[in-house]
Amino acid sequence: MSIKPAVDLKIAEQILARYPAEPRHLISVLQDCQLAYRYLPREVLELVARRLAVPIGKVYGVATFYKAFSLTPRGEKVLRVCTGTACHIRGAPLILNELCSRLRIKPGETTGDLKYSIEAVNCVGACALAPVVVVNDVANGQVNVTKARRLIGVSTAAAKDGN
Ligand code: FES
Repeated sequence: MSIKPAVDLKIAEQILARYPAEPRHLISVLQDCQLAYRYLPREVLELVARRLAVPIGKVYGVATFYKAFSLTPRGEKVLRVCTGTACHIRGAPLILNELCSRLRIKPGETTGDLKYSIEAVNCVGACALAPVVVVNDVANGQVNVTKARRLIGVSTAAAKDGN
């Protein structure tokens, strides 16, 4: 599911006011906007392009080049399920499946209430802890289905009831 919330451009205006209106501040401005909106809305990219006098194509180029930027809304919690070899062998597909079915979204999607996003990612460099799920910037190791449910606030009792 992909839901785009209404965009409050005042936030971007406040961010832009913190920087001189020069092209060299593009990445810093985009970083602040990403943090504030949790993604880079089209309207914000257009505003930033105008204010910093950067061609819109270049702004999109930067916004799509860096993994830290997203053009679609992300949830408050971004669950990155490692699907690298070590994690795959130790059950990552099961965990990914559990999280997706509980939240009723697919990898790359965000829940309608903008609480969770799920991403299937390559090795996150913590193979000894496999399988790994990174929630925002915190790595959770040796994740099993029960632990995966806890990461999204589903208690084991509720899970048994099918809730
Ligand atoms: S394969 Fe998952 S952390 Fe390396």
